[in-house]
Amino acid sequence: MIEIDVKAGGAHKQRNDAVVLPLLDGRKLTESGRDLQEATGKEIGSFLRKFDLSGAFGETRTLYDVEGTYSQRVLLAGAGDEKKLTLQKLRALSSKTARKLEKSGARDISIYFPELNVKGATLADKVQAIAEGVWLGVYTFDKYQTEKKENKRALRSVTIMIPSRRDLGDAEEAIKVARAVSLGTNFARDLANEPGNVCTPEFLGDQAAGLKHKKLKVTVMDKKAIEKAGFTALLAVNQGSAKEPRFIVLEYNGGKKGDAPVALVGKGLTFDAGGISIKPGQAMDEMKFDMCGSAAVLGIFKTATELNLESNLLGVIPSTENLLGAAAYKPGDIVTTYKGLTIEVLNTDAEGRIILSDALAYAAEKKPAEIIDFATLTGACVIALGAQATGLMGTSEKVKKGLKRSGDHTHDRVWELPMYEEYQEQIKSKIADIRNIGGREAGTITAACFLSRFVDDVPWAHLDIAGTAWDMKGTDISPVGATGAGVRVVVDYLLNRDG
Ligand code: BES
Ligand code: MN
Ligand code: ZN
Repeated sequence: MIEIDVKAGGAHKQRNDAVVLPLLDGRKLTESGRDLQEATGKEIGSFLRKFDLSGAFGETRTLYDVEGTYSQRVLLAGAGDEKKLTLQKLRALSSKTARKLEKSGARDISIYFPELNVKGATLADKVQAIAEGVWLGVYTFDKYQTEKKENKRALRSVTIMIPSRRDLGDAEEAIKVARAVSLGTNFARDLANEPGNVCTPEFLGDQAAGLKHKKLKVTVMDKKAIEKAGFTALLAVNQGSAKEPRFIVLEYNGGKKGDAPVALVGKGLTFDAGGISIKPGQAMDEMKFDMCGSAAVLGIFKTATELNLESNLLGVIPSTENLLGAAAYKPGDIVTTYKGLTIEVLNTDAEGRIILSDALAYAAEKKPAEIIDFATLTGACVIALGAQATGLMGTSEKVKKGLKRSGDHTHDRVWELPMYEEYQEQIKSKIADIRNIGGREAGTITAACFLSRFVDDVPWAHLDIAGTAWDMKGTDISPVGATGAGVRVVVDYLLNRDG
């Protein structure tokens, strides 16, 4: 992991591979840039007069061996219009800078982004965002590319330069949070990027059990234990798979003894072929990502252990494949769930809600303070919100409000869809208690209505991450593949809930 620390000091005094200075619209330097310009020879001023760089957001230019500096390079990074800066733009800027310098072979760099003004943000907010941008941005998943890569010099350390020594304490604290959040997010990405033949339910169980902390207890149920416990809905979906299911329970007790935990429930479908209602072949490979809900939950637990988070958490993950083996469950089957409610299965591809029914009912039984679930639940959510926001639904105004706030703050954004009573009509069954599809209209909402039947009166929020959990184009702070969506928003939510 790249080392990130924080320091105060002038740019012309730094002795490393690169000094990174922001450049605003109109070729305007910030304070450190102006100091550097004064302390050094003519290069910077003369370069700026040549109009090679306007300062537009995202532009970069590298100057080498600037007279009077001790660094190999001065990188000017376009930050655009200062009035339009946001924390997410800072993340994107650091991510881009770190990736660019890593390619160039720079190993130790100093960046001067904290002196940019971001409306409404504290110095700690900015430092956290900059550190996240670096750690999330340089993430790669290349373990299966066995052919020798060119012998590159990896980025080793980033020093985030702040204007005043007085703020060193706050800034260091912010880096600690960024580190834990990034470790959790990248852990979620790693799990999700693994192919389906590696990331099986058993593998997910092992990964959960691999999380170690004195306040964490992990229980992984195998098929026998699942049968004994009566998670019959999970077993129904598992019928078509040759691999055993798992039911994973994590208990983290960092909060006050006796405080009801926040329950985090995640869909752990390690490959979703659709079952007998088989999916079309187009992009079916992406259904290895159908366990991103469980990856988000495990990522949050990873962050909690790194931060020694002072909350009580209960994690619940039902995990299986959805395949078409000879014993597969079929359209028309009626499944009796752990809770006792019966489901008429009209489409075996609406399997996420089925396995979640047992996990939510189990979580609700433990009387948590609230339940938040994460699931790549519906294609309809991808159509409604695309890759820019996770679908938010649920019964608790308070939890939803907190998640919206944290979503905006972290840019791991959520957008609410309504759950009017009338939508429940769409999942009425003529032969069982409910059916597992609600028709073409409002597919994301009717899936949430289905889930709502299993949470009793526990305050509940549902995050449909189908559009946000992976991105085949890559984002400003994530390469192609899993994004880790859900980790940052909920970690921020938990920090604010108890802090
Ligand atoms: N895992 C899928 C949802 C999904 C599809 C996520 C595409 C991301 C991209 C889920 O299990 C599913 O197949 N849902 C069906 C439900 C339908 C049959 C009611 C869907 O959305 O098509
Ligand atoms: Mn499906
Ligand atoms: Zn699915």
